[in-house]
Parts: sequence; structure tokens; C-alpha cells
Amino acid sequence: MASGKEASLSPRRLERKVAVITGGASGIGAAAVRLFVIHGASVVFGDVQDSLGEALAKELGSSAFFVHCDVTREEDVEALVNTAVSKYGRLDIMYNNAGIVGPPVVSIVDLKMKDMDAVFSVNVKGAILGTKYAARVMIPSKKGVILSTASIASVVAGTAPHPYTISKFAMAGMVKTTAFELAQHGIRVNCISPHAVPTPMAVSGYQSLVPQLTAADVEGLMENASELKGAALVADDIANAALFLASDDAKYISGHNLLVDGGFTSNKTYNPFPSNS
Ligand SMILES: NC(=O)c1ccc[n+]([C@@H]2O[C@H](COP(=O)([O-])OP(=O)(O)OC[C@H]3O[C@@H](n4cnc5c(N)ncnc54)[C@H](O)[C@@H]3O)[C@@H](O)[C@H]2O)c1
Repeated sequence: MASGKEASLSPRRLERKVAVITGGASGIGAAAVRLFVIHGASVVFGDVQDSLGEALAKELGSSAFFVHCDVTREEDVEALVNTAVSKYGRLDIMYNNAGIVGPPVVSIVDLKMKDMDAVFSVNVKGAILGTKYAARVMIPSKKGVILSTASIASVVAGTAPHPYTISKFAMAGMVKTTAFELAQHGIRVNCISPHAVPTPMAVSGYQSLVPQLTAADVEGLMENASELKGAALVADDIANAALFLASDDAKYISGHNLLVDGGFTSNKTYNPFPSNS
């Protein structure tokens, strides 16, 4: 019988947990590093932007530790996970968040395989490596949570270039197949799929289409494109979704792709520049 006592929603939902986050120096990853620390976690985070990562670790003090990590390099991801285990003795949460968009939209007939490889190396191989090395540590302890940042491009076409869309569909597939295997070890695997969030990645993506756009212009376009009026999606909203899935409040949720899109993927039309049409 449910007692209701397990519905914690405690003020510090990751107390004594150890987390690894990739792509943690900027945008959604940096928001998650901050929020996980606020909620009591010790966080080891990796990125290729060393100066941003080191500055964030300094700001957060002893609960956050930055490690240079290029997620396309297997030895870097293994070392990132090993750092968490050697510093804190275990790993409770792995958050594969690093990602790139790649070059602007081109037709499939002009698609360059080097662009496909570059996007897949970070978005798919990086997340698989994070999942592999986290699972090696979590399986013996019979628990753990593995998260990835996918995208609305994991469920609909037409919002991003082909390599990015294909990579995010692959990421959602990775979540399904690994959630199925790892459930027997008590490990939950999920991903989070945001609509457009005004991070450095998104702003430069829009600017590659219309170079004169400022960051404020991009924020306005994103808000206009939102189905859910009166709310603007920001990086902290994605960090909050990650916090929920990482916490014991989500103890029975696995194999799930959590859309954080204000209902966007319920609608089949999309035009980021309605005034040009
Ligand atoms: N911003 C959006 O609109 C949006 C929407 C849906 C999904 N996402 C996803 O969110 C995740 C985070 O992106 P963001 O919007 O915060 O962008 P961002 O550019 O602010 O952050 C991405 C981080 O990943 C890092 N990174 C890139 N390549 C790396 C590599 N090889 N190894 C390690 N780190 C690497 C970057 O240096 C950067 O710090 C990505 O997976 C992205 O695809 C973003």
C-alpha cells in the first residue's frame, strides 16, 4: 500500500549524490551543474571549453570539479567518470549533455559525410561513451541514473539540419535499448527533449541562418515560436527536468523521452521566421 511518505519533493533532492555532467561549461549543462550543486550533489563536469569550465568550478567551490573532456574521445570520457569515482567514491548520476548542431541546413543531396561524422561523434558517440562508462560503475552498485539531452528533433523533422535530427533520433534509440538492458541492474535511463532554448548554441544556430540577428532577437523569435503563451523556455527549465529525472522522485521512470516543449510537438507546423513568409 502506498503511504504517501515516499513523495519527497525534498528541498535538497540530490543530497550526497555524485553526478557527472558533460558539456557542463555552458548553456543547459552549466544550469544543471549549478542546480545539482544547490540540491546537494557533488558534480564532476567535463567540457572542451576549459576557461568557462574552470570559472564555473571556481564560482561553485568544493562541490563542483571541472575536467577537460572531449566526449568524442573514449579515454577522456573514461577519465571523467573515473575522476568522479576516485574523488567521491561512487557515481549516482551520469548526464550526457554535450552536443553540437553542425553546419546549417542543406538538402540530403548535398549532405557531406564529414559533417554527419562530426555531429554523430559528439551527439551520439559521446552519449554512448558516457552511458558505457557510467554503466560499468553503476552495475556493481545495482543503482544509478543515466540522462541525456536529446531535443524535439528526436521526435519531429523540420526543426534542425539532417545530421542533428538523425543524431537525436539515435540518442532516443540509445535510451530505449540501454534502459531495457540496465533495468535488471536497477539503473534508470532517460532523456530530455527541449524545444529551443536561448543558449550560445541556439543563438549561433539562428545567426548562421540570419547573421544580423542579436541574442535578444533570437530570444524573441523563440518566444514567438512557442506554443505555450506566457512562458519562455530557459536553460533552468531543462535543468529542472534533469533534476526531477535524476532524483528519487522519478524512481520508477525509465526508458522515457521527456519533452520539454510547451506542447510544440503536438502541432505540425513550424516556421521560425513567420514575418518572412
Ligand atoms: N539550446 C537549444 O535550443 C537546444 C534544444 C534542444 C536540445 N539541445 C541540446 O542541449 C545540449 C546542450 O546544448 P546547449 O543548448 O546548452 O548549448 P551550448 O553550446 O551552450 O552547450 C553545449 C556544450 O557542449 C560542449 N561541447 C561541444 N562539443 C563537445 C565535446 N566534443 N566534448 C565535450 N563538450 C562539448 C560545448 O563546449 C558547450 O559547452 C545539446 O546536446 C543540445 O543538442 C539544445
